[in-house]
Amino acid sequence: MSRLYWIETWGCQMNEHDSEKLAGTLEGLGYEPAPSLGASDVVLLNTCAIREKAEDKVYNLLAQLAPLKARRPGMVIGVCGCVAQMSGEGVRERAPLVDLVFGPRAASRLPELLARLQEEKGVVDTTLYQDSLVAGAKAVRESQRAKAWVTVMEGCNKTCTYCVVPATRGRESSRPLDDLLAEVQELAAAGYRELEFLGQNVNAYRCPGTKAGLADLLRAAGRVGGVRRLRFTTSHPLHLRSDIIRAMAEVPAVCDHLHLPVQSGSSKLLQSMRRGYDREKYLAKVGELRREVPGIALSTDVIVGFPGETEEDFQQTLSLVREVRFDQMFSFVFSARPGTVAALLADRTPLERKTERLIELQALQREIQLESNARQIGRVEEVLVESPSRRTAAEWAGRTTSNRVVNFHAPGARPGEFVMVRITAAGANSLRGVLAGEDAVEARPMPEARPA
Ligand code: SAH
Ligand code: SF4
Ligand code: F3S
Repeated sequence: MSRLYWIETWGCQMNEHDSEKLAGTLEGLGYEPAPSLGASDVVLLNTCAIREKAEDKVYNLLAQLAPLKARRPGMVIGVCGCVAQMSGEGVRERAPLVDLVFGPRAASRLPELLARLQEEKGVVDTTLYQDSLVAGAKAVRESQRAKAWVTVMEGCNKTCTYCVVPATRGRESSRPLDDLLAEVQELAAAGYRELEFLGQNVNAYRCPGTKAGLADLLRAAGRVGGVRRLRFTTSHPLHLRSDIIRAMAEVPAVCDHLHLPVQSGSSKLLQSMRRGYDREKYLAKVGELRREVPGIALSTDVIVGFPGETEEDFQQTLSLVREVRFDQMFSFVFSARPGTVAALLADRTPLERKTERLIELQALQREIQLESNARQIGRVEEVLVESPSRRTAAEWAGRTTSNRVVNFHAPGARPGEFVMVRITAAGANSLRGVLAGEDAVEARPMPEARPA
C-alpha cells in the first residue's frame, strides 16, 4: 500500500510554493496525496511566523492532531516553515507530538530527515543551508491552475526592525539565470500563461557570478514563447531601481501592477522601522512608476501601531494613502516578534487605539477602491480565467493585468484561457462583467499531467 501525505500551509506565496516543492519531494519518495489529514502517514505543517496570530494557528491545529495520531501511531508529524526556524526545539517542547522540525532552508533535506526518523525519536534541523535553492526539488503544481510560481531568490538581507523573515529565511541567495529560464520554458510548454517570480526582496535578484539582475530576468523571460503574463513579488521601494521600472514598461508580458509595501506614511516611523527610505522617496518612486507605466495599478502593505506611532504619524499614513490612492492594501496591527529590535521598543499605545486606527485606515481604503473600481465600468479587459467564482459555481473568477478580480458568466470557459470581459459592475474588492464576444475566447491547451 502506498504511503500518504498531507501538507497544511500558512503564510506568503513563497511558503505556498515551498509546499508545492515539499509535495514534489514526497512524491519523489513514492508518497501520494492523502484524501484527508487523518488518513496520512506524513503530515507537514508549513508555518508562518510573521505575526503572533499566524503562529497561534499552528499550535491550535497541533492540539487537534493529538487524537488523530493516537489512532494512527505511525503518523509522522512535521512542522516546517518560519515557526519551525524561529522556535526549533521549542516546537517539540510546546507540542511533544511533533516528530520532525525543519526550517525553510532545510526543506531540500526532507528525504534524509525522514530517514533519520527511523532511528531517532525526534529530529530538528534549523540549519540555514545556503544551497537550499540549488538543491531544491521539482514542484508539484496543480495543473488546473492558470498561473505558476517560480522562486528566484531566497532569504532577505534587510533589517526591518519589526520583521522575523531575515531570521527565518536567512541571507539572500539567488538562482542562476539559466536555471530560471529553463524552468520558465518548461512551464510555458506545460501551458502556464502567467508566471510569478518570488523572492522576499525580489528586486535584489542577482544571478551568481554575473551582473544580471531582475530587469534582465524579466526581459529574457518575456521573450519565451507562450509566456503571456509576468509578475514578481515582493518589491522593496529602495531596491526598485530604474532599470527594473524600464523593463516593466518595455516588456509587454510584465503586468501593469506592482505590490510596493510602504508600511507607514511617516518618515519618522520609516526610520525607526529601518526601511531605508522616507515618505518623499517613496512618493518619488510612485511618480516614476506612473510616468513610465501609465495606468499601473499599485498595492501595498501598511503596519499600524508600530511602537512610537503618534496620532500625527497615523495621520501621515492616511494622507499618504489619500495621495497615492492604492488599488489594494493589506494592513496589519503591529505584532511584537521574538528576537526583533522593535519588540524591545517602548510602546505606549493601547491595542484598542491601534485597532481603531486599523479600522479607520481600512474604511478609507475601501472608499478609494470603490471609487477606482467604479471607474472600470464600461471597459473591456483581458482576463485570465483562474477558478470558479467564490460566490457561485456558475461563474468564473479571473484577473486583469492590473490584478483586479473579475467575476463573469462564461459556460464554456476553462482555467488558463484569456477572455475579453466587459466590466458591468464594481464592488470594493472585485468587478463583475460579461463576455465581450465569443470570438474573444482564446483556447489554451491544458497540460495533460502535472509537470513532473
Ligand atoms: N518581504 C516583504 C514582506 C514580507 S511580510 C516586504 O519586504 O515587504 C508581509 C507584510 O507583513 C509586511 O510587508 C508587513 O506589512 C507585515 N509585517 C511584517 N512583520 C510584521 C509585524 N511584526 N507586525 C505586523 N505586520 C508585520
Ligand atoms: Fe522583512 Fe523587511 Fe526583509 Fe521584507 S524587506 S522580508 S519586511 S526584513
Ligand atoms: Fe510568513 Fe515566513 Fe512568509 S514568516 S510571510 S511564511 S517568509
